[in-house]
Amino acid sequence: MKNIILVAGATGSLGEKICRELQTRGANVRALIRPESNPEKTEALKEAGIETLVVDFSNSSQLVAACSGVSCIVSALAGLKETIVEVQTQLLDAAAEAGVPRFIPSDFCTDYTQLPEGSNRNFDLRKIFTALAEKRPVRLTSVFNGAFSYVLRFGIPLLNTKEQSIAFYDGKADWKIDFTSLEDTAAFTAEAALDDTAPRYLRIAGFRVSPEDLVRLSGKIFGTPFQLQNQGSLEQFSETIQKVRTAHPEGEQELYPAWQQMQYLYSMFAAHHDQLDNARYPGLNWQNAEETLRSSHI
Ligand SMILES: NC(=O)c1ccc[n+]([C@@H]2O[C@H](COP(=O)([O-])OP(=O)(O)OC[C@H]3O[C@@H](n4cnc5c(N)ncnc54)[C@H](OP(=O)(O)O)[C@@H]3O)[C@@H](O)[C@H]2O)c1
Repeated sequence: MKNIILVAGATGSLGEKICRELQTRGANVRALIRPESNPEKTEALKEAGIETLVVDFSNSSQLVAACSGVSCIVSALAGLKETIVEVQTQLLDAAAEAGVPRFIPSDFCTDYTQLPEGSNRNFDLRKIFTALAEKRPVRLTSVFNGAFSYVLRFGIPLLNTKEQSIAFYDGKADWKIDFTSLEDTAAFTAEAALDDTAPRYLRIAGFRVSPEDLVRLSGKIFGTPFQLQNQGSLEQFSETIQKVRTAHPEGEQELYPAWQQMQYLYSMFAAHHDQLDNARYPGLNWQNAEETLRSSHI
């Protein structure tokens, strides 16, 4: 019998790609859709032959029915507490009731187990969910992919193509930062969803680059010299982020306010993977740094 994998967040950037990667691997994919989702996205999933199921995520009997016969749930939900803690917990409880053995939560970020509470609001929400989830009779696998490589196209201080500058913090010019493309993360996650022996944590990176590496690569690809820019210590950066956060309480209701983006940058320099699980699933072609930067060169 084919595995049935249930994907929550299937209308999102990552979730849609996970559905397609699962399908390529011969899985039966059941995409959970909320009633207010964009119908065009639902239609695109249906056209790809993916089973779509519209559910009210606050209705536990609908969720339990959706979980029937499922071997693994993949959550690619994005949001704040209501989504990452509350909706994911409702889904996990339904999974436990329906006897689903495995759950991949919507982590897909830097390895937050290395970071103290308070350093990244969005990671803290995942920690709250994890603490609840580890008490349930469902095996968890978290995929830590570092940052999605597309963030390098956003003009962030780490790669500022307008100013031709590369930011770094004291002592961190050669610090390797983990990046993985959305596509590679989706492919690896699909493999993990079909792997009943997957461990609690899987750490991947399509490529790892330091600020010094980025100076060399950017000079080569953009044809103009880039300069390293020391931003001071990480401790000072952390204090600045806290001040900006305090000055902008409205950001507590936003997914990516300016201070949250600063927290992501901080996390890139505060934690990275010591060992990678890339080789666990052979046959994946990882997008490298040069390909990523070339695709951002417009
Ligand atoms: N490491 C990185 O650099 C990085 C960067 C970006 C994202 N991420 C992570 O990747 C994961 C997926 O993010 P994404 O960018 O693919 O997100 P996205 O495109 O915004 O998609 C989010 C999905 O979650 C669904 N959703 C949101 N709130 C919901 C709710 N309350 N109830 C039910 N469904 C809900 C959305 O449904 P609708 O279509 O109905 O809105 C959509 O399917 C998240 O964990 C995110 O934090 C990581």
